[in-house]
Amino acid sequence: MIDLTVKLKNITFRNPVFVASGTFGYGIEIPDLVDISRLGAIITKSVTLHPREGNPPPRIVETASGMLNSIGLANVGVDRYITELIPRYESLETPIIMNIAGSSLDEYTAILRKVESVSSNIIGYEVNISCPNVKKGGMQFGVDRELTARLTEQLRKCTERLLIMKLSPNVTDITAIAAAAENAGADAVSAINTVVGMGIDAITRKSKIYMTYGGLSGPAIKPIGLAAVHKIHRKCSLPIIGIGGITCGNDVVEYLLAGAIAVEVGTANFRNPGIVQAIVRDLYTYCKEQKIDQISGLSGGVETYP
Ligand code: FUM
Repeated sequence: MIDLTVKLKNITFRNPVFVASGTFGYGIEIPDLVDISRLGAIITKSVTLHPREGNPPPRIVETASGMLNSIGLANVGVDRYITELIPRYESLETPIIMNIAGSSLDEYTAILRKVESVSSNIIGYEVNISCPNVKKGGMQFGVDRELTARLTEQLRKCTERLLIMKLSPNVTDITAIAAAAENAGADAVSAINTVVGMGIDAITRKSKIYMTYGGLSGPAIKPIGLAAVHKIHRKCSLPIIGIGGITCGNDVVEYLLAGAIAVEVGTANFRNPGIVQAIVRDLYTYCKEQKIDQISGLSGGVETYP
């Protein structure tokens, strides 16, 4: 019997394959296309204190082996999330992790306090301190150890639910930010968010993204994600959720070997919203062929050269 379950804090997930924030809406949009009960967890789209329209178009462009986005955290705001979405999660079997974003410490805290004040089956929060597409907040927090620590500490006081800090690769040393989150009480980190990039049209000579820069995701960034996860795993002891360019079961295994305990699939959902189901099937096949009973045993198992 192959066991794909993984544990994080006091929660057992049916498998280690989650869907990444911003790539699966609020988790309820496509039930006819996808059997969401097969997903390890759904991380919902970033929610801010007030509704946001996001950045003007063009805000998504395809690149070689990837995609650039500068959505600008378009979302319905926390009040509508509470009244319209949280009640719909009650009937779902799939664990829901709410992603939150803010432009100040107080904004992040206000969101958490609002959600904590109502009854819900949300199992935890992923805190977006790594969005490269907003002028205030987002990545501003995730590139600064001190701010990361203060925010984590403040949010920790507001919730006993799972607290995951989502890290940016656009830093000199991601392990220092992960350590700050760990020491301030985070339960886990997720790594990585997108890599700052740019697209230019040679004929029109125009930037392909209205905001000039965007966040690069997809297979192009998988090696960056793997290295980040491996470095954090070497330095910190908190659980890591790997993100970046995952499209198949072997990609998941690579992230687990690098030190992740679970992964988030992002950009690949845009090509095929059912891809996570295929990835989970891949994992069964991998475990069967490699004679692995428990997938959690792979975590951190990469052999590096001396
Ligand atoms: O622009 C965006 O909404 C992207 C968010 C993120 O990368 O965290």
